[in-house]
Amino acid sequence: MNAFDRIIGYSSIKKDLQQISDTLKNREAYDILGVSAPRGLLLYGKPGVGKSLMARAVIQDSGRRVFCCRKDSPNGDFVKKIKTTFENAVENAPSIVYLDDMDKFANGDELHPDAEEYVTVQSCIDEAKDKQIFVLATVNNMKSLPYSLRRAGRFDRTIEVNAPCGKDAEEIIAYYLKSKSCDESIDPAVIAKIMDRCSCAELETVINEAGLYAGYERAEFITMEHFLKACVRTMFHAFPDDEAGFAYEQEYFSGALSDPENIVSQIAYHEAGHAVISEVLCPGSVTLISAYNADRKQGGFTNYYNDNRKTPLYWEKSRIISHLGGCAAIEQKFGINDIGCSSDLDQAFNMTRYLIVDIGICGLHLHSTDFNDSQRLLSAQEEVIAGEVEKYYRKAKEILSKNRIFFEKLAEALAEKKLLSAVDVQRIKSECQITAVPV
Ligand SMILES: Nc1ncnc2c1ncn2[C@@H]1O[C@H](COP(=O)(O)OP(=O)(O)OP(=O)(O)O)[C@@H](O)[C@H]1O
Ligand SMILES: [Mg+2]
Repeated sequence: MNAFDRIIGYSSIKKDLQQISDTLKNREAYDILGVSAPRGLLLYGKPGVGKSLMARAVIQDSGRRVFCCRKDSPNGDFVKKIKTTFENAVENAPSIVYLDDMDKFANGDELHPDAEEYVTVQSCIDEAKDKQIFVLATVNNMKSLPYSLRRAGRFDRTIEVNAPCGKDAEEIIAYYLKSKSCDESIDPAVIAKIMDRCSCAELETVINEAGLYAGYERAEFITMEHFLKACVRTMFHAFPDDEAGFAYEQEYFSGALSDPENIVSQIAYHEAGHAVISEVLCPGSVTLISAYNADRKQGGFTNYYNDNRKTPLYWEKSRIISHLGGCAAIEQKFGINDIGCSSDLDQAFNMTRYLIVDIGICGLHLHSTDFNDSQRLLSAQEEVIAGEVEKYYRKAKEILSKNRIFFEKLAEALAEKKLLSAVDVQRIKSECQITAVPV
C-alpha cells in the first residue's frame, strides 16, 4: 500500500504532496537541474480535515527520519524542546522536522505573532538552511503565525486543506462504510449532503456511531435509521433514543403547538424557520431537520447548496438569512424573543463580518488588512455589520410570512415526527404554494 492511499479524495493536494515527497527522495533528478529542494511545507485548515494524515503520508513516503515536535510541556521547556528537535534533525540529516499544530506552540488562545516559540522556530529553520532539513508543519489558524515565519524560503509550499465536499466527501464516506455491514438504505451521496461542510473526523465519527447504535440493537446491518440517529447524537448533541424524554415531550406538546411557553413547539417552529428559508431561497437544499432536544441544545438542521447557477455571494447571503430563520420564526409565531438563538446569531454575525470586512461588500473602506486596525475602523465595521444583520433578519421574517402555510405545516410535521428527511420536506413542500423572495 502506497503511503498516500490512506488519503481518500483530495486528488490535487495528493498530487502536490507526492511531488514534494519526490523532491525529498529523488534528489539527483533535481540536482542535475541545479534546483534546491523545498525547505518546508505548511498544511493549514480547520480541525479534523486530515492535515496530520497528509503530513504522515509525506513523512512515510519520503523514507526520511522524522523528528516530531508538539506542544506538551511548559513554555520554557518547550522552547528548549524546539531547539533539541532541530539539533537532532540536523545530526541525522537528511531528515524531516515535523511541527504538529504549530499554532498551539505559543501560550493561550490569543494571537501571538511575536511569541518566543515562533521566534525560536524561525531561527532554527534559518540555522538549518543547507543542512538537508525539510520542515513540515500543520496549523489550524494561520493568523496566529507571524508572516515572516510562513513566508516562502521558510515554508516554500503552503496548502490549505478544507472540509471535503461533493465527490471527495462521498469517497471518504464510502471508504469508512466499506469495512462495515450496511444495508442498501445507506447511500454515501445522501450522507455527504446531510454532512456537508463536516470534517473528515466528523464523517468518520458519525459513521462509526451509526454502527454503535446498530450493534447495541444487535442488528445485522447498519441502516439509514441508525445513521440518522448518529447524526442527531453527534451533530445536534441530542439523545435520539431517549424514549422517556420523548414521551414527556409528546405529552407536553399535545394540543399546545401554539403555546409560547411550550418548549417543544418552540423547537419545532425554530427549526422549521431555518428550513423554510433554506428551501425558499435554495430549493432542494434541506437535508435533515431534528426537533430532538437535550438540555439547552435544541433541535438541529442541515442543508446542502448545490445550484451552480447562483453566485457564491448569493449562497452566503442565503445562509445568513437561513441562520436567522430560527429566531425570526419564534418572533413571527409567538411574538417573543427566542432564547435558543445565540449560536445562530453568532453565526450570522460572523458570516456578515466576513462579507463586510474580508470581502468588502459594503465598501472597501471597511476592509481590514492586518492586526492593527484603528478603533475608528473597527467601530465603523461593527455598525455596518449590525445594520446588515438587521436587514437580513427582516428578510427572514418576510420569507416566513409569505410562506406561512409551508412554515406551519413543516413545524407541525416536525413536532410530530421529531426528525424529517429531505424526502419528507419535499413532500410537505409539494402540498404548499411557495412564494419566491429576492435576496
Ligand atoms: N482524506 C481522508 N481520508 C480518510 N480519512 C481521513 C482523511 N482525512 C482525515 N481523515 C481521518 O480523519 C481523522 C482526522 O484527521 P487528522 O487528525 O489528520 O486531522 P487534522 O486536520 O490533523 O486535525 P487537527 O487540526 O485537529 O489536528 C483521522 O482519523 C483521519 O484518519
Ligand atoms: Mg492534526
